[in-house]
Amino acid sequence: MKVFVSNLNETNQIRIGEKTYFLKHTNCRTILLPAECPHRGGPLQYGEQVDNGDSIICPWHENKLKVCNLAKQSLCIVRVKNELKFVIPEEVQVTTWKERPCHQLQQGEKA
Ligand code: FES
Repeated sequence: MKVFVSNLNETNQIRIGEKTYFLKHTNCRTILLPAECPHRGGPLQYGEQVDNGDSIICPWHENKLKVCNLAKQSLCIVRVKNELKFVIPEEVQVTTWKERPCHQLQQGEKA
């Protein structure tokens, strides 16, 4: 196992092995949620956040999912100032990147 460290200024999405996660900031904490919708795999990282950020509307079938339920599948992380740390197996590949959430984009603009 190894500790992976990522800078929050450069990261809001993380691919760990075959699974993608996205960062969600709540009032009191930062969580790393699985990007795959539990219904049929829709990309939750592009979903609209509603109910003051407590729920996400999946862009595929527009189901509203509670963040507290999605958080049960979150990756255990530690946030220290601008650093995000989590433990992964040695052999697993990690890729990080940052995109602006779709709901902040203007029509025709790329993330
Ligand atoms: S895939 Fe998310 S609601 Fe269907």
